[in-house]
Amino acid sequence: MEIRNYKPADEKGWVRCRVLSFLDTAYYDDVHREKETFENPSIELVAIEDEQVVGLIDIEYDTKDEKVCSEEGTGGMIWHLAVHPDFQGRGIGTALMERAVEEAIKLELEFLEAWTRDAGHSADWFEKNAYRKVDEYYHLYLSDEDMAHSVQPGDDNLQPLYMFAQYTGDDIEQFDSIERKYKCMCYIRNL
Ligand SMILES: CC(C)(COP(=O)(O)OP(=O)(O)OC[C@H]1O[C@@H](n2cnc3c(N)ncnc32)[C@H](O)[C@@H]1OP(=O)(O)O)[C@@H](O)C(=O)NCCC(=O)NCCS
Repeated sequence: MEIRNYKPADEKGWVRCRVLSFLDTAYYDDVHREKETFENPSIELVAIEDEQVVGLIDIEYDTKDEKVCSEEGTGGMIWHLAVHPDFQGRGIGTALMERAVEEAIKLELEFLEAWTRDAGHSADWFEKNAYRKVDEYYHLYLSDEDMAHSVQPGDDNLQPLYMFAQYTGDDIEQFDSIERKYKCMCYIRNL
């Protein structure tokens, strides 16, 4: 397994690896059909085995003029971190992270920031990899049934059937009946 910088020729493999790796996670419907590009400078690494993309990490970082991270200081935001499901649990994610940390230290970044949901093992994985939780709020997916009991827009001709919303208040119990809801958590690793 080799870790190297992403090249445009990797795009198809990158997209496939990302989609497959998220299938069994709370982000299963967050599908990207093209690789994202960033306004700010970035660290973009792939793990390659038998000429296949088996892992990836994308980190866009703060500059003097444009901030990406939510925490103060100069940080890098991890937008994508994924290991192909057939290759998980073999140390590839950790190797990608450690290589990204080396690059981030060379760039004099002070921390890395990642957001993840409370379903699955990713929060534990970040904690094992020296991250600590600093913030949280909720992601809510309202089904058509949930929508029948929630606020509708004033225009009768416009009827939302589903909704994705974030909730930052203290009364999450009011949404107990909503089946698909997650705590979305911010993790920081100081460098
Ligand atoms: C999170 C992820 C990037 C970790 O990469 P990885 O290569 O599987 O992880 P590593 O092999 O480096 O880490 C090993 C640790 O992760 C845990 N782990 C890895 N895969 C796991 C799995 N499928 N189920 C449960 N735990 C798992 C193990 O606890 C293991 O710890 P151990 O060595 O003490 O046993 C990868 O599992 C993944 O792509 N998940 C889906 C996408 C995702 O959640 N991305 C990040 C958050 S948005």
